[in-house]
Amino acid sequence: MHTTTVERIIRPARNINGSLRLPGDKSISHRYAMLGAFAEGTSRFTNFSTGADCASTLACMKALGAKVNRISGEAVDVTGVAGRVTPCGHPLDCGNSGSTMRMISGLLAPQKGEFTLIGDASLSRRPMERIRKPLELMGARLTLTEGHAPLTIHGGPLRPMDYATPVPSAQVKTCILLAGLQTVGTTTVREAVRTRDHSELALRAFGAKLARTVDSVSISGPQALHAIDAAVPGDISSAAFFMCAAALFPDSGLVLDSLGLNPTRASLLDVLTALGVHISVLNLEEKHAELVGTVQVSAPAEGLGSTEVSGALAAQLIDELPVLAAIAPYTSGGIRIRDAKELRVKESDRISLVVKNLRAMGAEVAEFEDGLDVPGGQALHGATIDSGGDHRIAMAFSVAALRAEGETLIQGAESAAISFPEFFDLLDLVAER
Ligand code: S3P
Repeated sequence: MHTTTVERIIRPARNINGSLRLPGDKSISHRYAMLGAFAEGTSRFTNFSTGADCASTLACMKALGAKVNRISGEAVDVTGVAGRVTPCGHPLDCGNSGSTMRMISGLLAPQKGEFTLIGDASLSRRPMERIRKPLELMGARLTLTEGHAPLTIHGGPLRPMDYATPVPSAQVKTCILLAGLQTVGTTTVREAVRTRDHSELALRAFGAKLARTVDSVSISGPQALHAIDAAVPGDISSAAFFMCAAALFPDSGLVLDSLGLNPTRASLLDVLTALGVHISVLNLEEKHAELVGTVQVSAPAEGLGSTEVSGALAAQLIDELPVLAAIAPYTSGGIRIRDAKELRVKESDRISLVVKNLRAMGAEVAEFEDGLDVPGGQALHGATIDSGGDHRIAMAFSVAALRAEGETLIQGAESAAISFPEFFDLLDLVAER
């Protein structure tokens, strides 16, 4: 397979100023696509994620019998299979998307037929035992390749179970809930840290009943889903790059409109506040149980302070840690990150790439198995950044580059399109040079 990599030069900025409305949240778009494709009727999703990952989910669901009609870049109609998918006779390609592979596995395990799921080189390295174990406890049969994709599901009726996830993972939780939705009896998932709860909220929006406690969610199956029309809130994990960029410039002013503010996703606002950033939230409203609002960000005149991210916070902020680490040298007291070992099994080993790239820019940083220490008060210089083909690394170091001395070259910049194809254009729009 031929893959082209694109290099992108990022020049330093003087300030970040402007107002943006971001494309739809990746996590919510995956779930709406899967549930809409499984439900009865036609759903319309507006502000659907423009990222390649969600396109992978749509393509898989189409191959399984759903009708998918992109009305425009951000609007999509999905006509569901009313609870019964059609095995398609060829492997389902999940691309770079762990969410697609892990969550669809739960949807397919109780279905009749055999399904093979494949992904790109990065996804084929990522751990899949975490879904095989619980699904097999429900009676499913899955064949992995040394713990990874390609994986084959030999589908059939399952039995319910009560399961505590050993590693906090919304993808694993969702996988089990989607299997439980189709299984006679009550399936319960318990988690020590409450991970993002978009699946719980979306399942309810599509008509399913769920019971929740502080640390568990139960679903009694089988249940049918009905179509919905929904606008996907702006992606707060994409917004993170702009909020962190704005945090670097004392005169900055950034407004983010219609942003998803689900409390299980919004911890970055607390961490930035702890660093001294001024944040206000306006026009808060609920859409299909997801909180949406306008966020205003401006940096403190005296610069950023220091903070630590560990424990439950590390799990909840897992996608935002690369960009937080990338701006840490510009704080006065540094940022300490721990309990984030999961970063090593994301689209890349994000701890080692963050360390490598911070050092390339001249920063001092200490690496730990489960995190890193980045001292504050450091000046960085432009460098060549190895994104490792990982979208969040490419974008995180584009933000670090805004305050560096000289130009930075981002290798593998095209990877931003996995979650956020508009990233570089929007950065040019708000970065004053
Ligand atoms: C996601 C959950 C997280 C996150 C990923 C999206 C989701 O992964 O890192 O980008 O949509 O459920 P884990 O649940 O595996 O931690």
